[in-house]
Amino acid sequence: MAILPIIEAPNPFLRTLSKPLDKVTDETRALIANMFETMYAAPGIGLAAIQVGHPIRLLVIDLQEDVAENGEGEGDAPPARIKKPQVFINPEIILASEEVGVYNEGCLSVPEQYADVERPARVRVRWLDERGATHEEELGGLLATCLQHEMDHLEGILFIDHLSRMKRDMLLKKLSKLRKAA
Ligand code: NI
Repeated sequence: MAILPIIEAPNPFLRTLSKPLDKVTDETRALIANMFETMYAAPGIGLAAIQVGHPIRLLVIDLQEDVAENGEGEGDAPPARIKKPQVFINPEIILASEEVGVYNEGCLSVPEQYADVERPARVRVRWLDERGATHEEELGGLLATCLQHEMDHLEGILFIDHLSRMKRDMLLKKLSKLRKAA
């Protein structure tokens, strides 16, 4: 496995429209393994293939939520986090709720910048997993938000595109300042 370089805004490659994957191969599964390793190392909770240079309709998510029973952690130890890697290939939103949710989003391609984004609170989604099996489920909460954010990447859309031009320019300016300082 390998940690892959993440493409960052305003690189125009991130605007590429990702193509459907017609076959899940060993090569796809190797890319998926590398995407998880890259995402965990970043660290992040979602990553689309386009962000690591592959314009295909594939994304990985792991919310790594706290273990409920061990929420406090032992002594100084941070709360344990459960790993639940999820792979979405050719995901399609079949139905989106009218009810919306707001979440303070970030993106590994727009490092250290965050902003509130409003999206449908629940979505019914169909997708293929890494073995090529079809799934259809209604998702809510952070998973619904994260999935919609990652699915935007497949269309060449970033979370900052949901903001006003003023707010978007401000975040991009902060990002370029951050790079100069580094
Ligand atoms: Ni993102």
